[in-house]
Amino acid sequence: MKQFDFLILGSGIAGLTFALKVAPRGRVAIVTKKDRAESNTNYAQGGIASVTSKEDSFESHVRDTLTAGAGLCKESVVRTIVEEGPARIAELIALGMKFSESAAPSEDGGKQLDLGREGGHSERRILHAKDVTGREIERALLAAVAAQPNIEIFENHIAIDLITSQKLGYVGENRCLGAYVFDKKANRVWTFAAPVTVLATGGCGKVYLYTTNPDIATGDGVAMAFRAGASIANMEFVQFHPTCLYHPKAKSFLISEAVRGEGGILKTLDGREFMDAVHPLKSLAPRDVVARAIDSEMKKSGADCVHLDITHKPAKFIIERFPNIYQTCLRYGIDITREPIPVVPAAHYQCGGVVTNVDGGTDIAGLFAVGEVACTGLHGANRLASNSLLEALVCAHRAAEKILSAPLPKSDFKIPVWQSGNATNADELVVVAHNWDELRRLMWDYVGIVRTNKRLQRAQSRLANLQQEIQEYYWNFIVTADLLELRNIATVAELIVRCALMRPESRGLNYNLDFPDLNPDWAQRDSVVRKEK
Ligand code: FAD
Ligand code: SIN
Repeated sequence: MKQFDFLILGSGIAGLTFALKVAPRGRVAIVTKKDRAESNTNYAQGGIASVTSKEDSFESHVRDTLTAGAGLCKESVVRTIVEEGPARIAELIALGMKFSESAAPSEDGGKQLDLGREGGHSERRILHAKDVTGREIERALLAAVAAQPNIEIFENHIAIDLITSQKLGYVGENRCLGAYVFDKKANRVWTFAAPVTVLATGGCGKVYLYTTNPDIATGDGVAMAFRAGASIANMEFVQFHPTCLYHPKAKSFLISEAVRGEGGILKTLDGREFMDAVHPLKSLAPRDVVARAIDSEMKKSGADCVHLDITHKPAKFIIERFPNIYQTCLRYGIDITREPIPVVPAAHYQCGGVVTNVDGGTDIAGLFAVGEVACTGLHGANRLASNSLLEALVCAHRAAEKILSAPLPKSDFKIPVWQSGNATNADELVVVAHNWDELRRLMWDYVGIVRTNKRLQRAQSRLANLQQEIQEYYWNFIVTADLLELRNIATVAELIVRCALMRPESRGLNYNLDFPDLNPDWAQRDSVVRKEK
């Protein structure tokens, strides 16, 4: 049994920001699946959207967010996050974060931050560190965390399930008491107890065969919260990033939207600029529009990818602005200053998640959710580019403020240690590997960018079979990381399909050929799911 004041699951921008804010008030455990920097945050390229220039305004950022969200954003949440952004950015800079600076001096001759442009933004407002913004955020936050004696990081530890009073058989309000955590190196399960537990576990890109996300993104937070009885919403809104590098040897490498922000043009393999006929913003149209257009071009022509061409820009500019993309593509034999980049859409971001208010509060007492795992109402049916790092920063701060504004709850619940019962070592691990592949492929084929009810129903029945098999495995065999993650991607896949089947319309990222239009009855209506008791 390990006892802390704050238990944080995840060490991306959301978990680390929250940890730094609460550390002065108590002992903090950060539990993280792999090494401490490994997170979606670490791979963020484009940057953080926030209003910092005189030409820009909160009103404009709010409007762009609401437009991208296709009528489903909660306007008050959008306003709060947009308006509190600049103060959180200033704190990040004070912690040591180095954003790229503009070559041009400010009006008073001083330095000013360089502002990038991305799809759906009507102004240049993306603060970035060249094309490795996330790596720089993790560096700065982890350095600050290392200086805090109250924070202990548990690497290679994977949370299995939340411990709640209801699961333990207590009546009354359902309260989160901590989590069971699998220690991968020691091969044993620990009980972490804390009056405050924070899910900061990120997204679920690994549910799909092709994704921009690293391996940690298996939707564990949503799956654990669902099993614990929390409300989950809007899981049908999976954002597919239009431009992931297409190369047989490249795993999940994103080509930032900032490349199109700086003039990159999407073309068919024979050089046609196909976005001209699709949207007035052409290659910089909102992500859902661009991803669907690429999908449609690939289906029409049978091509395996499309091209993203930035060769018309000076080579020096490309290499300085996008050093990571330039070097990575070069390693695969593609010189982006001289030839177009082969790209395909890939699963990128989970707009739905654990239902929270703007302070990270869930409907389970003592359980908070911040960052990509949460559904605050900021993104609605489609996230505006670079709004997620902003949301994580603002909501982690607000959650910490809210929690620190009252004494921490005292707990006299008796928490049992983890029981393995009669579980034995798995006899055929090939079953786990096979189910991983089958699940991710079926999600890609049947629950992708363009959906139909028939495909969704087909996915639902196959997922039911897979889930039954996975459950048998889970109960009979000693847990492994692969099995725990498989169980979670299966739960999240089922929630995505369930939410998609609930929504009889095409809105934002949920595009269903059986319901091609908006349905006014579903304007402002979230698709909410909860575990049956
Ligand atoms: P993450 O950063 O994903 O961190 C999750 C953490 O939880 C990890 O430490 C992980 O190990 C841990 N974890 C997960 N499950 C468990 C478990 N069961 N037990 C213990 N630990 C667990 N957004 C932007 O705003 N701007 C961008 O430019 C941008 N670029 C992106 C580029 C790429 C390639 C990707 C993949 C995403 C990008 N995004 C961007 C999205 C953004 O990076 C994420 O939404 C954001 O970083 C999420 O932060 P987080 O702290 O919520 O989760
Ligand atoms: C990108 O750099 O294209 C990713 C930006 C985002 O996902 O917000």
